[in-house]
Amino acid sequence: MLSSCGAGGEDPGNEYAPNMYVSFAYEPMTQLADKPNTINPMGMNMRLPVKNTIARGQMDYTTYNLPKTTEGYEASASLKNPLPASVYNVAEGKRLYNINCTPCHGELGKADGTIVAAGKFPPPPSYDSDRIKTTPEGKMFYSVKYGKNLMGAYGTVLSPHQIWQVLHYVNTLKGNATVASADTTAKK
Ligand code: HEC
Repeated sequence: MLSSCGAGGEDPGNEYAPNMYVSFAYEPMTQLADKPNTINPMGMNMRLPVKNTIARGQMDYTTYNLPKTTEGYEASASLKNPLPASVYNVAEGKRLYNINCTPCHGELGKADGTIVAAGKFPPPPSYDSDRIKTTPEGKMFYSVKYGKNLMGAYGTVLSPHQIWQVLHYVNTLKGNATVASADTTAKK
C-alpha cells in the first residue's frame, strides 16, 4: 500500500494532512489580511483576555502596583522582600543581575560597569555607598520596577519574583547580607 502512494528513498509519498507538516504562520493577536479568522472579532486568531483577568501564576504583578509618583516611591519603603535569602534565590538573583544590571552597576555593584567605564554613562551610586546601604529594600524594588531618573524600568523584563531575587543578590554586594538557609532548591 505504501509503495502505491509513491513512498521510497527520501520521498515520503503522499502526505496525510499536509497542514500538519506545512503550517501557516498565524499571529496570535492579529490576522494575516489574506487569511482572516472568520469566527473571532476583527479576524484575530486568539481572543483578547477578558478585561481585568490575571493569568495563572501572575498574581504578584498586581500586588506591587504603586502609583508612579513621588508618593508611590515613598510608600514603597514599607515593602518587604517576601522571599527567603536562600542559596537558590541569591544564585538566581546573581544570574539575573549579571544579565541586566552589570553594564552600569558593574559585576560587584561598584558603579564601574562597561558603559560607565567607557565614559558613555554617568556612574550610578555604588552599592556599598551609605546612600544605597540605607535605602530600604522596598524603595529599591520600586526603582527597579519603575526605573529612576537615568535608570530604566525593569518591570516588563523581570517579574516581581525575579526582582526580589535580584535584590537578595544586591544585598550581598552591599556587604550587609546573610544568606540564611542552605536551601538550594526553588522555593517561594
Ligand atoms: C543604564 C544603566 C543602569 C542599569 C542597566 C541599571 N541601573 Fe540601577 N541605577 C542606575 C542609575 C544612573 C541610578 C541612580 C538613579 C538616581 O538616583 O538618579 C541607579 C540606581 C539604582 C538603585 C538605587 C535606587 C534608589 O531608589 O535610590 C538600585 C537599587 C539599582 N539601581 C538597582 C539596579 C538593578 C537591580 C538593575 C538591574 C535589574 C539596575 N539597577 C540596572 C543605572 C542603571
